[in-house]
Amino acid sequence: MRDKILKVLVDNRDEFLSGEAISSYLGITRSAVWKHIKSLQQDGFEIESRPGLGYRLLALPEELDLISLNEIMKTQIMGKSIELHQVIDSTNNRARELALEGADEGTLIIAETQLEGRGRLSRSWISPRGKGIWMSLILKPDLSPDQAPHITAIAAVAIRKALNRATGLDIGIKWPNDIIIDGKKVCGILTEMHADIDRIYYVVVGIGINVNMTQEDLPVELSSTATSLRIALGRNLDRRQLIALIMEEIEEIYYTYLENRDFKQILDLCRQYSVTLNRPVKVIGRDTSFEGFAVDFDEDGSLLVKKEDGNIIKVMSGDVSVRGEGGYV
Ligand code: BTN
Repeated sequence: MRDKILKVLVDNRDEFLSGEAISSYLGITRSAVWKHIKSLQQDGFEIESRPGLGYRLLALPEELDLISLNEIMKTQIMGKSIELHQVIDSTNNRARELALEGADEGTLIIAETQLEGRGRLSRSWISPRGKGIWMSLILKPDLSPDQAPHITAIAAVAIRKALNRATGLDIGIKWPNDIIIDGKKVCGILTEMHADIDRIYYVVVGIGINVNMTQEDLPVELSSTATSLRIALGRNLDRRQLIALIMEEIEEIYYTYLENRDFKQILDLCRQYSVTLNRPVKVIGRDTSFEGFAVDFDEDGSLLVKKEDGNIIKVMSGDVSVRGEGGYV
């Protein structure tokens, strides 16, 4: 029945059809029509619903497919091998499995939706179907484990640049792993690694980007802190193009860094686009929490926070909220 309703909407695209007209045409109740419409909306069909007018199909879900992804990719290594899933627990979990099986550097795992998407600090990451980019990239850098934060910084700088190229929007980096538009989070990066004391075996860079989510797609509790590219831009974006651009930027920035072993250049870009520096911040660590002023990054990428008593604290990880106009974000 759902497919029949979809066909009626597709055949009458751009026109409003009343719930009553659909229900009598298909011989089902109006509440059944409404239920199917809801389920289509959840699967990414953009259907406008207006009291008194009815339903109107605006857009079909844009599906990712390997043929166009491979065609569009301009890179030599990053995203040259892609595994695409309709549903997965977490692309980071799958990337870890593949890395342990010996997958090559640059292997990219993408999912249309994740059932157990993970964020930093054991938070969950919501990944509605077809509305975002949920992907994980396998890297095998010849670095020591203490240099792993460099990879998060490289990913942040690369994603910032790619999103700016695609949208022209003003895009910032909130230390250490958030990409910010209009003071709200649009993308998070989760870097996980397998290493021993002096050597990294692999790094998984998990990237979650809210692309075509509407305000309604965002959980209410996130509405003051999260946004999407669509909300910021007022139109949908082609996720394939974005993925290709991100791979291009990561490839360029990551290999330049590995070649020159120069983290300073990356740090300078982090400084340039930081929404954290020169702001009052609240740091919530495992055992302590304090307020201060974010003064700079240390050469290893950690955040330097000056407390009221003048002491400068080096923050390596943890949760940092930045005080903006509407309080801490
Ligand atoms: C954060 O901001 O806390 C990081 C969020 C990272 C989310 C991405 S979505 C793709 C990949 N798979 C996961 O389970 N998490 C990352």
